[in-house]
Order: sequence, then C-alpha cells, then structure tokens
Amino acid sequence: MLPPAALALSAALLAQAAHGAVTVYGIQGAFGATDSGTAAYTSDTAAGTAVYDPATFGGPAAFNPIILAPPPPPLPSAVPTDVLLQLPNNASQAKELTLSTAHTGPFLGFSIEMSVVNQIIGINSTYLQVPFLNLMSLVAERAGGVHVRVGGNTQENATFIPNGPDAIEKKAVPGSLTNTPDVFWSPELLYMLSNVSSLVDVQWYLGIPFNETSQLRLQIAEYGEAILGENIMGFQVGNEPDLYVRHGHRPQGWNETNYFQEFGMVVIAVDDDAHIPIKNNLIGPSVSGTWTPEDVWNTGYIEAYAHALGALAVQHYPADNCAALYPGAQYGAPINPQDMFSHYLNHSSAQNLVARYLNSTRIAQSVGKPFLMFETNTASCGGFPGISDSFGAALWGIDYAMQMAYSNFSGALLHTGGLNNSNNLFTPPPTRVSLFEQWTVGPIFYSTLVVAEALGMSGASRVADLALNNGNMYTPGYGVWENDRLSRLVLLNFVTDPSGAHDYNVTFALGGPQFGETRQVPPNITVKYLSAESVSVKENITWAGQTLGNRFQSDGTLQGEEQTITVPCNQTSLLCIITVPAPGAALVFLSDQALAESAPTTTQTFPTTAMTKTINTASVAASVLATSNGDSAADRGNLSSTDKGSMRHENAAAALVSSAMGVASLCTFLAMGIFLVF
Ligand SMILES: *[C@@H]1O[C@H](CO)[C@@H](O)[C@H](O)[C@H]1NC(C)=O
Ligand SMILES: *[C@@H]1O[C@H](CO)[C@@H](O)[C@H](O)[C@H]1NC(C)=O
Ligand SMILES: *[C@@H]1O[C@H](CO)[C@@H](O)[C@H](O)[C@H]1NC(C)=O
Ligand SMILES: *[C@@H]1O[C@H](CO)[C@@H](O)[C@H](O)[C@H]1NC(C)=O
Ligand SMILES: *[C@@H]1O[C@H](CO)[C@@H](O)[C@H](O)[C@H]1NC(C)=O
Ligand SMILES: *[C@@H]1O[C@H](CO)[C@@H](O)[C@H](O)[C@H]1NC(C)=O
Ligand SMILES: *[C@@H]1O[C@H](CO)[C@@H](O)[C@H](O)[C@H]1NC(C)=O
Ligand SMILES: *[C@@H]1O[C@H](CO)[C@@H](O)[C@H](O)[C@H]1NC(C)=O
Ligand SMILES: *[C@@H]1O[C@H](CO)[C@@H](O)[C@H](O)[C@H]1NC(C)=O
Ligand SMILES: *[C@@H]1O[C@H](CO)[C@@H](O)[C@H](O)[C@H]1NC(C)=O
Ligand SMILES: *[C@@H]1O[C@H](CO)[C@@H](O)[C@H](O)[C@H]1NC(C)=O
Ligand SMILES: *[C@@H]1O[C@H](CO)[C@@H](O)[C@H](O)[C@H]1NC(C)=O
Repeated sequence: MLPPAALALSAALLAQAAHGAVTVYGIQGAFGATDSGTAAYTSDTAAGTAVYDPATFGGPAAFNPIILAPPPPPLPSAVPTDVLLQLPNNASQAKELTLSTAHTGPFLGFSIEMSVVNQIIGINSTYLQVPFLNLMSLVAERAGGVHVRVGGNTQENATFIPNGPDAIEKKAVPGSLTNTPDVFWSPELLYMLSNVSSLVDVQWYLGIPFNETSQLRLQIAEYGEAILGENIMGFQVGNEPDLYVRHGHRPQGWNETNYFQEFGMVVIAVDDDAHIPIKNNLIGPSVSGTWTPEDVWNTGYIEAYAHALGALAVQHYPADNCAALYPGAQYGAPINPQDMFSHYLNHSSAQNLVARYLNSTRIAQSVGKPFLMFETNTASCGGFPGISDSFGAALWGIDYAMQMAYSNFSGALLHTGGLNNSNNLFTPPPTRVSLFEQWTVGPIFYSTLVVAEALGMSGASRVADLALNNGNMYTPGYGVWENDRLSRLVLLNFVTDPSGAHDYNVTFALGGPQFGETRQVPPNITVKYLSAESVSVKENITWAGQTLGNRFQSDGTLQGEEQTITVPCNQTSLLCIITVPAPGAALVFLSDQALAESAPTTTQTFPTTAMTKTINTASVAASVLATSNGDSAADRGNLSSTDKGSMRHENAAAALVSSAMGVASLCTFLAMGIFLVF
C-alpha cells in the first residue's frame, strides 16, 4: 500500500505509483541468476550490537545487515522499575479493566503475497518448502491452527490456467514501468495449499480478482471450494480498493459507492454460481486508510451484504519507506530508519494503530461479523531496513497484536513479500539451488509464537491491556483470562539497557478482597522470555531459550533446549516477582494448566503434560508421520520425541515428506528469479 503522502502525486507520477505497491520483477539484477553472487552478503554476519551500516551493501533488502543504534534509554525516573500488579482471578471481577471478546490461538497469522508462493510455500502440490511447513507447524502446535492468506496486490490480475504444471507462473506485463508480472495460477496452487493443510493445520484466505467486475474471474472460488473445502476461511473481494484510482486501476472519481456496487456484482455472481457452494464467506472492504472504514459503512455495505460477508477487514501499515524504494521527487527525501526506530519502541504505536478502528470493531461485533486486520507489518514499500528486521519489530509485533486482540479485532495477518522486503517473516535463500537450512527467519516471526502461546488453544481467551506501570509507554502489559480465569500475563520492555538499570520487576498478587476473592498465589509460576541483547539485533534471538537460527541458517525448527523459568511465589507475602529485562518480553503462566495448554506438543486431540516437550524435534516429521501412517494425531507427541538423536532434522523431515508425497528431493530450492512485493 501507499502512504498518505502519496496523495498529492501528479497524474504522471500516479502511473508510477500505481506500480509502486505491486511486484517488481527481475530488475534487481545483482543476484538470483547465479549462486556466486550471494556470497558477498550471506557472509555479512550482522553480528553483535554495534551500529553497522555498510554503504556498499548491494544485496536485497531482506538480507541487509544494517544494525541501528537502539534508542537511548529514557531517564530512569521515566520508567519505574518496581511495578505492583494485583488482578482478579475471575474475569467478572475485573471491573476496572475492559476485557476483549474471546479469541482463538491462531489470532496472529500470515499474509503471503500471491506472486511469491512459489518461493515460500512450494512449486507445486508435490514440492513443498519444508522450512515453511516447519514454521507453520511451530505456530499450529501452539495455537491449534494457523491462518494464512495468499493474496495481495497480485491477486487482482491473477488469471486461471487449467493445465499449468506449477502452482503459479509469472509473466511480465509489456510496457509496465516496473515490469510488474501478472500471476497465472493453476489448480496445482490449490492442491499445493491442500497438501500443506494435510500436513499442518493451516486454513487459507484467498482473493477473488477484482481488477474488473464486468468480466469476473471466479475460478479461485470455484476451484478453491472444490479442492480446499473447509480449509477455506474466506475470499477477499478487493485489495485496498481505496487505492485503485491512485494506482490507475479505476478511473478518476471512482469512489466508495462504486466499490459498494461492484462488490454487489461479485455477491450476485457468487450467488448464481453453482460451483461455489458457500455463499457467505466474502471479505471486504479491506481499505487501507485513504478511505476510512466508516466511508464504506456509510454506503450501507454491511446491511446490504450481511448475508454474503464472512468477515469485515481492513489493511494498514503505520508508515512507509516508499521514498527509499522509489528515489525521485515524488516521495521526497528518504526517511532515515534510525529516526523512526523509537516510533516502534513504545506502546503509543500499537494504541495509535488500533484507535481508528475502535468504532468499526464495535460495529462488527454488533452485526456478528469478525473484524480482521488482513494485511499489516512495520512499514509498507518494503519496510525499514534495521527496524523491520530487528528484535524491536518482534516486541512491537507482540504489543500490536495483543492491542488488536484487546480492541476486539478477530485476527491479524502479518505480510511477507519477496527479497526486497525488510518486513519478511521468513525468506528463502536467493540462490537457484540452495540448502534446506538457509532460510532467514525475521525476528517478527517470533511474535507469532509468543501471541499463540499467550492466547492458547481454548478459544476462550479474553485480553485486557493492563495499563501496566501507570500506563508507562515503555512497559506495556496484558492479562489473558481464559474461560474467565486469569491464566497468563504478557509483559514487555521496549528499552535497551545492558546495565540492567531498566529491567523492571512486576510484583504480582492474585485476587484480594477488593475483588471479592481470597488473595492467594500459586506455589510457583512459569515464565518464558523472548530475549536478545538489544532491540537492534537481527540474530541471537531466543524464545524460551530456543532459537530459529541466525540469518541464512534456519530450517524452520527451533534449536536448543527449551528453558522455562520457574519462579517460586512467596507464600507469606502472597506475592510473585517477575523480572522483565530491557529489552524483552515475558510470558507468565499462572498455572500448570495454562502452561500445558500452550505447550507445543500438547494439542487438543492428545493432551500430554507440558514437561515432555523439551526435545528438539523436526515438527514436520511428526505431522507427516501422523498423516502418512494414517494414524490419529494421538501418535504425534510420541513420534516427535523419538526423533531425538536419530537423524538430523532436515534429513528426517525431507525423507519423510519424500516418502509421504513422492518427492525426490526437497533439498533443492529453485528461485524463479527475483521478485519484490510489499
Ligand atoms: C551470539 O551470541 C554468542 C554468545 O553470546 C556470540 O558469541 C555470538 O557472536 C553472537 N552472534 C551474533 C551473530 O550476534
Ligand atoms: C466469577 O464471578 C461471578 C460473578 O460474581 C460468579 O457468578 C462466578 O461464579 C465466578 N466464577 C468462578 C469460577 O468463581
Ligand atoms: C513439481 O516440481 C518439481 C520441481 O520442479 C518437479 O520435479 C516435479 O515433477 C513437479 N511435480 C509435478 C506433479 O509436476
Ligand atoms: C493487469 O492487467 C491490466 C490489463 O492487461 C494491465 O494494464 C495491468 O498493468 C496489469 N497489472 C496490474 C498489476 O494491474
Ligand atoms: C484484468 O486482469 C486480466 C488478467 O491480467 C486482464 O486480462 C484484464 O485486461 C484486466 N482488466 C482490466 C480492466 O485491466
Ligand atoms: C497432494 O496433491 C496431489 C495432487 O497433485 C494429490 O494427488 C495428493 O493426494 C496430495 N497429497 C496429500 C497428502 O494431500
Ligand atoms: C460517488 O460518486 C457518485 C457520482 O459522482 C456520487 O453520486 C456518489 O454520491 C459518490 N459517493 C460518495 C460516497 O461520495
Ligand atoms: C461509527 O461509524 C458509524 C457508521 O459509519 C458512524 O455513523 C458513527 O458516527 C461512527 N462513530 C464514531 C464515534 O466515529
Ligand atoms: C512513541 O511512539 C509514537 C508512535 O509511533 C511516536 O510518535 C513517538 O515519537 C514515540 N515516543 C518516544 C518517546 O519514543
Ligand atoms: C527485581 O527482583 C530481583 C529478584 O527478586 C531483585 O534481585 C532485584 O533487585 C529487583 N530489581 C528491582 C529494580 O527491584
Ligand atoms: C510449581 O507448582 C505446581 C503447582 O502449581 C507444582 O505442581 C510444581 O511441582 C511446582 N514446580 C516447581 C518446580 O516447584
Ligand atoms: C516472603 O515474604 C515475607 C513477608 O514479606 C518476607 O519476610 C520473606 O523474606 C519473603 N521471603 C522471601 C524468600 O523473599
């Protein structure tokens, strides 16, 4: 999407901006064609915490090694380090807090630009990217499922081809300034997604092309329903229609009323299409901020299409980096990411982002529709190198997602694009032939693990922003009441201070007479930390002691032994003290049950104790075995733990997927050229 600043563009520049928000094809030249070109930047280690900005870096943004300076710590007096927190156990006693509606574990999911599915998900139904499966499995095991959207700008022109051998093909549009490719997709795309769903519990959002409504192309819904069935969550109708005129996709003057009318044409066409059995899973209006949601609600949209709408949605990024991506007068001087870093490292960012939607989440609730943040991330136009790919983005992602949960969004999808995107949650290596373990997992991916565990699998988690520390902007905190009992706390510290002077302690008490409850503390509580040395780093990030690996080193599995911290509570003072390091996030489990339910190998189908899960396994191996044996999921935890020491994970996963799916080699990754999407 494009920034508000772009509103003032002249007509000529509009044409260029039209392509600014979509895929750039094959113009980067410096890499992709050969393997040799990658050495220069894959060896750039981005290590440590020292500021680093190699002027000569020529590789893609996804691999930019820049390390920014963390914002200087605020004056100690500005961040009290001894924080008293007393909360009721029973949600109905939380009168001073507003609790959200109930959320499910897969609240925070993924949005993948349609034009890069062949790099990220797979080439065809029998050639899946195992690191992607591993990453999805990590979330699914914690959340009870994963929601993934395949779409974006490139869904709009996407064209069905019945017999394509690959999931998608891309063809450059002649004359297009940026050589933007159109996506041609075949049923293989849907079989590929279906095969992913058979291995990992992934459900999908897709998009119906909306570049024109006089000749609708509904095959994605026809084939999607037929092939993916209940694994379809819904079909988006129009990706950021409020930018169509600016992008040259609709004539000047086209407005909310026109969107309303054209949406209605799709509703009628779907109703009339016998090949689309489900009539009530369309998603709109997906406006990005140029139109407010109210601009669309005021057309009568919700009332007119309530029978067809499965969810209401918006898309929004807090900032853009368009000036850097498109040098020239139209966007002004590039923004220095260093100047923006502090904007992501306080609670106002999350609060500001949701504020404009509070009216709409209330309206959505009143009409019984989910309200989704369908596409978001740190910044559009590729994000900010050094921010979007830093540990700070992971902390920001947690705060933003929890704030959306608190504000009664029903779900949110973090967008991942191509190699020229610093926002990516995961990026395959850019080489033509690459090794299995060479993915780069963006720090913001960790936020999906933390949020999944914070919400758990019950589907009954309600969230409150605790205004922790008197609402201090550097130390936000959330409480999660599950089935109306306080089960978890999420405590954040945005400050970087290696001296420890900005670590803070939450002194926590449960219950008390003011809540009509007996004050008590459990014998102990369990804490998992998301940790790194500084908000600036890209590497050495751990979640409960485990890491997904440094840049170019991930196979999508967590490495190392899980480390949970047991904090004994004082049975005399009836207090528990939780330290939150600067920087970091702490997820506090207030009961063994809360811990067990979020535990990776504990699923609803085969609960085990939380203590069996510390062994480092290839998660896909387990799920593939479960599938290929035709066994129930009950075997899964057991099989996972038998992997220890028997095979290296990637070989295990590859071999098992091979045998299950008849794939000769999953270790070969074929990059189809270089694309960028944001
Ligand atoms: C990661 O941490 C280890 C030990 O703390 C250190 O030796 C190593 O240099 C760090 N690596 C990076 C990339 O920061
Ligand atoms: C929570 O409080 C409400 C209102 O006082 C009460 O009806 C309910 O039984 C309590 N729930 C539990 C689990 O104690
Ligand atoms: C899927 O793609 C791989 C890699 O290009 C190829 O070897 C395989 O034959 C393809 N499978 C099908 C069913 O076309
Ligand atoms: C979509 O198709 C139209 C008509 O062929 C073309 O003008 C446009 O550039 C294509 N691509 C995008 C991204 O709109
Ligand atoms: C919409 O996209 C299709 C596929 O690229 C293209 O054939 C068609 O001309 C486009 N329509 C418009 C109005 O650009
Ligand atoms: C994967 O897709 C193919 C279609 O190409 C299908 O024959 C096969 O059964 C699928 N496998 C799974 C596990 O769904
Ligand atoms: C959109 O434009 C039409 C035609 O000018 C006008 O009648 C209508 O009121 C406009 N709708 C909105 C929401 O401004
Ligand atoms: C909420 O949205 C409705 C529908 O657009 C509008 O009428 C109302 O004024 C809005 N309320 C606020 C407080 O923005
Ligand atoms: C906090 O974040 C907001 C919103 O991003 C930003 O405008 C502000 O400058 C930040 N404040 C500080 C003190 O960093
Ligand atoms: C936080 O708690 C720890 C452990 O109880 C203690 O050692 C430390 O001094 C406390 N820090 C502050 C700032 O109170
Ligand atoms: C922590 O407390 C629970 C009871 O809530 C108990 O089952 C467990 O053994 C305790 N763990 C430790 C390490 O003290
Ligand atoms: C527990 O709290 C009591 C009462 O405040 C205090 O005297 C005691 O030192 C505390 N115990 C520990 C281990 O901190």
